[in-house]
Amino acid sequence: MIKLHDLQFVPFIAENEIIATIDRMSDRLNKDLSDKNPLFVGVLNGAFMFVSEILKRFDFDCEVSFIKLASYQGTETTHQVKELVGLDQDVSGRTVVVLEDIVDTGNTITVLSKLLRDLGCDEIRIATLFFKPEAYTKKVKIDYFGFEIPNKFIVGYGLDYNGLGRNLTDVYQLKSSDMTNLVLFGPPGAGKGTQAEVLKQKYDLVHISTGDVFRYNIKNATELGILAKSFIDKGQLVPDEVTINMLNAEVDKNPDAKGFIFDGFPRTTAQADSLQELLTSKGAEVSAMIALEVDDEVLVQRLLERGKTSGRPDDADEGVIRNRIKVYYDETAILKSYYLKQNKYFGVDGVGGIDDITKRLSQVIDDL
Ligand code: IMP
Ligand code: MG
Repeated sequence: MIKLHDLQFVPFIAENEIIATIDRMSDRLNKDLSDKNPLFVGVLNGAFMFVSEILKRFDFDCEVSFIKLASYQGTETTHQVKELVGLDQDVSGRTVVVLEDIVDTGNTITVLSKLLRDLGCDEIRIATLFFKPEAYTKKVKIDYFGFEIPNKFIVGYGLDYNGLGRNLTDVYQLKSSDMTNLVLFGPPGAGKGTQAEVLKQKYDLVHISTGDVFRYNIKNATELGILAKSFIDKGQLVPDEVTINMLNAEVDKNPDAKGFIFDGFPRTTAQADSLQELLTSKGAEVSAMIALEVDDEVLVQRLLERGKTSGRPDDADEGVIRNRIKVYYDETAILKSYYLKQNKYFGVDGVGGIDDITKRLSQVIDDL
């Protein structure tokens, strides 16, 4: 295991495997491009080692040039590609082979392909040492790739984490943590608060309730709290980005947590995506979305009963209660399918005694 900055990495692909793969890729390039006098364009910084190994193995006339593009900050893509050093070579009418260390979302090669086409390239081929098919969202054809890898952050063989790790000759992947991160859902009256409290104790998790986080930030007039309040005061929804930043800050406050219970978050798929990104950067992931399932009629009865003693006006009116339940299902339907797709959705029967329900929840968590 190695440590770069704040993160730990474990061995993933050894140098001899990489070399064998580059040999195979080079055989194909030699076969396909022998009479094309190709211009190899390496994408800096990450591709420098790969470019040099490919060039050493190319047996025919060729040229090489570089372009410097960047899209990553830390372990996360910024979805924007910056051109840091431009191409200094005439590419019109040429066969260009783009040499990339890794294709992730595909933003970089998409931008680069367009740039090369606009400069009048005759033919563009993409060759990348690593390819993450699960992260790839673009249409540009990848003509040659060395390794298809899962959507994990890697370093070594030219690839870096915030500047470090490029000199490693083996490739390492971010150590996945054994955190348990739960997204807890339940309609009003399902007993979510009660169960969150129990689970937090039982599994030693940090409970992050969006409502509490908002109230804390607003009360203490933090920068984000003031920002959030400015929207609330105007009667507007707080933008996803503000909510996400608040939650990120909360997660960062607990660097040694065994895991988190997220309560009231995510509410949108954009929030779910950024939660995933945040946890990925810690080598972790959402372990499960658990939803307490309680029949509408039972919820209405429970809340009306609670209204008799709680004094909450929204617990007293059956129409208001039914509407709150409906809003819950309308809001969570999209997240249910989001997590279902990842096999992470678990519905748990929320009717019965507190201990029985805890037992059912624990069964799901213990099996993760
Ligand atoms: P894309 O534009 O999302 O396809 O990302 C391409 C660039 O992101 C690569 O050239 C790398 O600089 C960087 N990148 C993507 N995934 C990783 C990784 O796992 N480790 C290090 N850098 C990465
Ligand atoms: Mg790169």
